[in-house]
Amino acid sequence: MSIGIIGAGNIGAAFARALARNGIAATIANSRGPETLGELSAELAPHLTAATITEAASADIVLVAVPWSKLPAALSGLPHWAGRIVIDANNPIEAPLFKPAELGGRLSSEIVADLVPGARLVKAFNHLFANLVSGDPKAEGGNRVLFYSGDDIEAKSQVADIITRLGFAGVDLGPLKVGGALTQFPGGPLAALNLVKFG
Ligand SMILES: NC(=O)c1ccc[n+]([C@@H]2O[C@H](COP(=O)([O-])OP(=O)(O)OC[C@H]3O[C@@H](n4cnc5c(N)ncnc54)[C@H](OP(=O)(O)O)[C@@H]3O)[C@@H](O)[C@H]2O)c1
Repeated sequence: MSIGIIGAGNIGAAFARALARNGIAATIANSRGPETLGELSAELAPHLTAATITEAASADIVLVAVPWSKLPAALSGLPHWAGRIVIDANNPIEAPLFKPAELGGRLSSEIVADLVPGARLVKAFNHLFANLVSGDPKAEGGNRVLFYSGDDIEAKSQVADIITRLGFAGVDLGPLKVGGALTQFPGGPLAALNLVKFG
């Protein structure tokens, strides 16, 4: 099972660091090309490989972490997703204005799903600050909670497996309609909560 990452900023790099710390390989891409990712790939060698967007998107599981307004450009012109898994780590708001995006009454993940036709989308890694994604998930004698949700049970179980391998306590919030609404930022009541699960 291969892992790709589109977006190498706060969240993409945090996910890459968490993977590398656990010996899990991944490819990562940004908008400027693999040659601009030398520092990060050197830091996380041999686990992380800088790649083009098309290469990262060809992995079995692809985490997407790109500023909201850049998602259409980042995900355009890619081959059909053909059932591969996309982890939607995005929120519909971005620096520097932090003005919530206009979603027309839809969930942000429903809009992202339209940008990745044929993918099985799982929402995860969007509700914690990046330093908590890359940091030690053991805290207060328990394990940091990482919520996930989605409509495809098998895709969710593969993402849950990664979450567990990274040392987080994965909590399945059910279908996208439920979990997306609970964790989306802004507005979701579970967004930005840093919780620990014991036992
Ligand atoms: N920051 C957090 O703590 C946090 C927490 C939860 C969720 N999120 C969500 O995660 C997403 C990313 O946030 P971030 O803070 O990681 O952003 P960021 O630090 O600004 O990084 C954005 C990354 O996206 C890449 N990118 C931009 N346009 C692209 C394109 N057309 N094609 C490919 N890559 C492109 C950038 O590459 P270049 O630098 O080469 O342009 C950069 O690597 C957002 O949706 C945000 O809401 C962030």
